Amino acid sequence: MSSDSERLLVRQARWVARDVVELRLTRPAGGALPPWEPGAHVELTLPSGLRRTYSLCGDIADGQAWTVAVHRAPDGRGGSREIHDTALVGRELEVRGPVNRFPLMPAEGYLLLAGGIGVAPLLPMARELTARGLPWRLVLGARDRSRLAYAEELVALGGERVLLVPQDKAGLPDLAAELAAAPPTHAVYACGPRPMLDAVTALCRAADPPRTPHLERFTAAVSDTPEESVPRSGEFEVVLNRSGLRMTVPADRSVLDVVREKLPDVPYSCEEGYCGSCETPVTAGLPDHRDTVIDPAERPTATTMMICVSRSASPVLELDL
Ligand code: FES
Repeated sequence: MSSDSERLLVRQARWVARDVVELRLTRPAGGALPPWEPGAHVELTLPSGLRRTYSLCGDIADGQAWTVAVHRAPDGRGGSREIHDTALVGRELEVRGPVNRFPLMPAEGYLLLAGGIGVAPLLPMARELTARGLPWRLVLGARDRSRLAYAEELVALGGERVLLVPQDKAGLPDLAAELAAAPPTHAVYACGPRPMLDAVTALCRAADPPRTPHLERFTAAVSDTPEESVPRSGEFEVVLNRSGLRMTVPADRSVLDVVREKLPDVPYSCEEGYCGSCETPVTAGLPDHRDTVIDPAERPTATTMMICVSRSASPVLELDL
């Protein structure tokens, strides 16, 4: 996450689907905000101090405002509940970013696959692709019609290029058919819950020729994944090279927790290994990657780690902090 941050005013809140509120953020005195590209996200610091990242879902042509959409997650860790239950309009929030880890890459066409609020980063992509005159198709699934966020905007934008799938009536989106119908020269972008992204990944791997989807994970790994069923590593040491500090990371605490005691400004957000905010260069030692930011195929050669969830496979880990 960029270290650039500023206080922005929550100018407006509106419902865009059941359990989904959209916040429009502007400079308190008005004025242009830094430009951004589809796929970008920002980090909000909530009144409680919680920090959460959300995809920008507004119009890139609207230079005066950033817009995020927040799905209320009753079983989440409190960020979305705070946004839904607090009267935020008229308050200022610290906002950091924007950062883009999900950019539109050049392609002849695009298949955009959204699950629930996963539509947020894909909506500005659809606008951008329309503006560029490139072929695209968007499939949005949600539990029922009332949860299809931005359905009207999407249909107005894309007409028959948009397929809305209320799953209580229509079942799950037919991802296999959508991928089979998308030419190999078309890029696949997907954002949604983990099972959907896992299905997209598996279908893309099995395709002939195999294709590599662009994925944005907005929820952390669930606890029954094989990765998380691996016991946490035990205690290890971290050396912070630039700060000249050495500390012990106990088995029941994260590297981030321990580092923040000495370096309270170290960036972080999701604390679950999916946003990339806490990515830290590793100068020596062997990280035990537990995040979903670094592709598993790239882990053996990765020179960074997400210190909120990843641990150490060596007794000592040296970090560039
Ligand atoms: S804080 Fe989000 S990946 Fe570490």
